[in-house]
Amino acid sequence: TRIAVFASGNGSNFQAIADAVQAGELQAEVALVVTDKPQAVVVERAKKAGVESFSFIPSEFDSKQLYEQMIKEKLEELEVEWVVLAGYMRLIGPVLLEAFENRIVNIHPSVLPAFPGKDAIGQTMAAGAENAGVTVHFVDAGMDTGKIISQESFPVAGRDRAAVEQKIHEIEHQLYPATLQQLFSR
Ligand code: GRF
Repeated sequence: TRIAVFASGNGSNFQAIADAVQAGELQAEVALVVTDKPQAVVVERAKKAGVESFSFIPSEFDSKQLYEQMIKEKLEELEVEWVVLAGYMRLIGPVLLEAFENRIVNIHPSVLPAFPGKDAIGQTMAAGAENAGVTVHFVDAGMDTGKIISQESFPVAGRDRAAVEQKIHEIEHQLYPATLQQLFSR
C-alpha cells in the first residue's frame, strides 16, 4: 500500500510509521511527506528516512482548492493510495476528500468525540477529564469528526500535563502503525 503522510510539525508519528515500515511491521511504502510548513522538523526526518517531501505555502495560493489540486496531482503521479494525517494542522477540503474517499485517516490526541480541535491535551486537562487518550479516525469535512477506527485511553489521575503528553505520544507511536496495518490488510 502506497501512502503519503501529511504533517506540519515535529513528525514523530511520521517517524513511527517509517520505522514500522522499515521493521516490516507495517506493509506499506511511504511514497511522500506533504507539509504546509517547509521548515518543519518532519522535512528533516523525511530526508533521513529517504522519503521525498513536498512542501507548499498555503498563503501563496488563492484558495484551498488550488493547493489541494496541486497536491492531488502529485499524489496521483506517485500512485499514492492512502493519505495519513499526522499532525497536519489544516482541514482537508473537497478536492482531496473526493479523490481519496474513505482513504484518508487522522490521529488525534483525545478520546473522540471528546475534545476535537486544537490543543486537545490542554482541553482534556482544563476540563478535569478522567481519561486522556488517542483516536485514529477516518477524515471527513469536519474537524476530527469522522468514523472512529481505533482508540486507546488511560486515567489522567496522578499525571501532570507533560506526563500526559508523553504517554499520549507513546500510545500514538504504537497505535498508528498498528491501525494502518489492520486497515491495509483487510
Ligand atoms: C500528535 O499528537 C497528533 O495526535 C496530533 O498532532 C500531534 C503530532 O505530533 N494530531 P508529531 O508531529 O507526529 O510529533
